[in-house]
Amino acid sequence: MYLRYWLPLMVSVSLASGECDLTTRSDSVVPGNVTGVSCQEDQTPDMTSSRCAIRCHAALDCRAAIAVCSSSACFCTHCADIFNIDFVAVGVESHLKGRVFVEYLAFPPARQISIPNGLSVGQVIRVRVKLASDSTSLKLLSQENAFTAFLIDFRFYSKSIVRNSNVQGWGLEERSKPHFNFSPGQEINVLYIVRSTEYVVYIDSVQFFVFEHREHDLHSIQTFSIDSIGTAGSLIFIFISD
Ligand SMILES: *[C@@H]1O[C@H](CO)[C@@H](O)[C@H](O)[C@H]1NC(C)=O
Repeated sequence: MYLRYWLPLMVSVSLASGECDLTTRSDSVVPGNVTGVSCQEDQTPDMTSSRCAIRCHAALDCRAAIAVCSSSACFCTHCADIFNIDFVAVGVESHLKGRVFVEYLAFPPARQISIPNGLSVGQVIRVRVKLASDSTSLKLLSQENAFTAFLIDFRFYSKSIVRNSNVQGWGLEERSKPHFNFSPGQEINVLYIVRSTEYVVYIDSVQFFVFEHREHDLHSIQTFSIDSIGTAGSLIFIFISD
């Protein structure tokens, strides 16, 4: 029962191994506490974690369902916008509403994925990517792909993660980061939260940096692009909030 309701609603990817272990799926479930904006409690009787997620899916203004469960019951909150994710919170599981757009796409060549209706505040983008041998660049493109609104470039030769934009020419590079413990061929999760004034970016559940918006027309950012120098990069999946 659980699977039958759950799968078509929250997960649009094919299952490989571990079909029943939905709690470890990395696309729509985050083991952490989402802090949202415009949140309300859902106090339906017999609340479970999956029911909390399903009811979020059916609701118009819900992008995240947060379930805090004890042995007797779950406390369910629905939020329209995502502001923050506390990945170390215990006893709480958050479900993100959205879709997986592509899976297992090798690059180079550069790959582009359309973001329906462009970006909006409160949205999350999650990508799982296998880093290429030399450098891997993730870009958000705006104005019919004429501009790079936000570049994240992983460079092994300098052990750097360079962020920049090319809106009216290339801007200032930002390079601060907590660490660079990555190796070529490694799979990592990159999660963007789109806030009103900046992006917050987590890599494997660690907040790595924020990047203030330089392209302020978020709606015009309608393409995600991924490319690399070197071999063996692949986009395992991209998940975008509705
Ligand atoms: C989750 O976050 C909310 C809002 O920040 C907070 O009130 C709540 O205590 C947190 N819950 C857990 C279990 O960490």
